[in-house]
Amino acid sequence: MNRNFSAAYPGSFDPPTNGHLDIIIRASNLFSKIIVAVTDNINKRHTFTLQERIDLLRESVANLKNVEVLPFSGLLADYLEKINSFVVIRGLRALSDFEYEFQMALMNRKLNKKIETIFLTPDQSYTFLSSSMVKEISMLGGSTKSFVPKCVELELKKRFGNR
Ligand code: PNS
Repeated sequence: MNRNFSAAYPGSFDPPTNGHLDIIIRASNLFSKIIVAVTDNINKRHTFTLQERIDLLRESVANLKNVEVLPFSGLLADYLEKINSFVVIRGLRALSDFEYEFQMALMNRKLNKKIETIFLTPDQSYTFLSSSMVKEISMLGGSTKSFVPKCVELELKKRFGNR
């Protein structure tokens, strides 16, 4: 573990999936503290409110003592300066993620040259998993049991009344 070294894992987490959780666990084994930084992605229409996403994440990571879930708004680069933490963790599932992630990593470093982005790959069983697919499955009556933490599964059931 990188002693006394924190990293931020930013995202919209709408909703959090087991893939996100897998990345959080991997990151928490590498750094002394992980801040899961939750925000609204202005390019997406969210299903869950910011507070709902935070609550679901907090419940999902309750057993991880070095993980904190916090909201942020505005530029990630500005937020990292505020919390004095300049390592960004992002999950990379497949080649299809690469272009967007690469662009974001370079843009963040352009905005603040102290920022380094580290890409972690989730367990291969999660490479196909995304929040939008989970929502689609739930909306169409499918079970999300094996894709999301229990609290998220219950919330999806409440919202979409699926199995
Ligand atoms: O989980 P997502 O939606 O893929 O996460 C994207 C997110 C929220 C990390 C990204 O959109 C972001 O950093 N938003 C904050 C605003 C910002 O800094 N935009 C410039 C990014 S280069």
